Amino acid sequence: MHLTREEEGIYDGEQGWAYQTAMRMLVKLGDLFGATRLIRIESSHISGVSYKTIGDAPVEFLEALIQAGAKSKVAATANPAGFDYGHLAEMAAMPGIQDRQLKIIDLYERMGVNPVLTCTPYYVRKPRRASHLAWAESSAVTYANSLLGSWTNREGAPSALAAALIGKTPDCGMHRPENRQANIFIKVKTNPANEAEFGALGIYLGKMLKDKVPVIEGLGYPKETDLKQLGAAMASSGMTSIFYPNQSCAKQSGRLESITVERKELKEASESLSTTREEPDMVFVGCPHCSFNELKQIAQNIKVKKVGEGLRFWVCTSRHVRERAKPYVDVIEHAGGVVISDTCAVVTWLKELGVDTLMTNSAKTAYYAPTLNGVGVTFASLARCIKAVCRE
Ligand code: F3S
Repeated sequence: MHLTREEEGIYDGEQGWAYQTAMRMLVKLGDLFGATRLIRIESSHISGVSYKTIGDAPVEFLEALIQAGAKSKVAATANPAGFDYGHLAEMAAMPGIQDRQLKIIDLYERMGVNPVLTCTPYYVRKPRRASHLAWAESSAVTYANSLLGSWTNREGAPSALAAALIGKTPDCGMHRPENRQANIFIKVKTNPANEAEFGALGIYLGKMLKDKVPVIEGLGYPKETDLKQLGAAMASSGMTSIFYPNQSCAKQSGRLESITVERKELKEASESLSTTREEPDMVFVGCPHCSFNELKQIAQNIKVKKVGEGLRFWVCTSRHVRERAKPYVDVIEHAGGVVISDTCAVVTWLKELGVDTLMTNSAKTAYYAPTLNGVGVTFASLARCIKAVCRE
């Protein structure tokens, strides 16, 4: 990789150990993936925040970085944590663990990382079209590349943090136009009927595509949130970082390898995401975190209903969206649901909350929760989720 004189200085330790470590990490990655230089980024989004998923392992390293003066050079945001401190009564709030979680958030904050604690940082601040980013959190990566036209690789927590500290990232992968070109054509011959079916389609395609770049035709008229579900699911079961929905790239389809998806595949993918027929202890909506419009839709669906006795209805979103959508939050909470921010069902302690069976409309959660949370899952549309959790 070619480094500028300033970058070389950082690499040699002229600005101290923290920046040297970050620079060495980026150069190593760049060399590995064929980058020739570093490019400036607009923002970084850092995963590895929930104490449930990372434990104590990174604490010493983060402390050492702070002691060595590490500060983010660009706007940096943090993924969800293990608790919503505004709803501790609703969480499995083990005191010792709360302190450790707070410490991790504090360490990031001291490095200049904004603790938005959401996997949808694009609802807090939308990156510019064609801007280069260094985002971890695979669902946000597919969203940024595919729906916002920003350019980001699928970073891990360490590389996203290193990029934040340097303000740059290696010019490889999704940062190069040639790697963003579609190389497979997907013809969907059955319209996904709702957000859950878009997610199921994503799980199916993710497994088939691995890291290929698909043009997908036949999606009908998807909402932004349908495509959010599709991308999040594709990135869960595969390595997809970008996709082109519908018309935009369909002209290229004649030249590409192609795959057809029929109703049968969609149905099988959907069914494969349910692992239990038991009644749910909790119904969870909001993976990835809900948008303003999703909260509005949930409120409209639940307003004349009541959450059943002994059931939990969690709707997860960011603090930012929760505040903006306050009237809808009030409707959902009046009906007996809880609008949780800063965390989600997957990155908190479900078992400790007494949850053995979870119902969700998120294909990503349905894909991960049986292994990461040890719960049985029923996968269903938002309409079915609300029906299951409410009595009229
Ligand atoms: Fe976000 Fe949690 Fe899903 S972090 S993408 S809501 S697993």
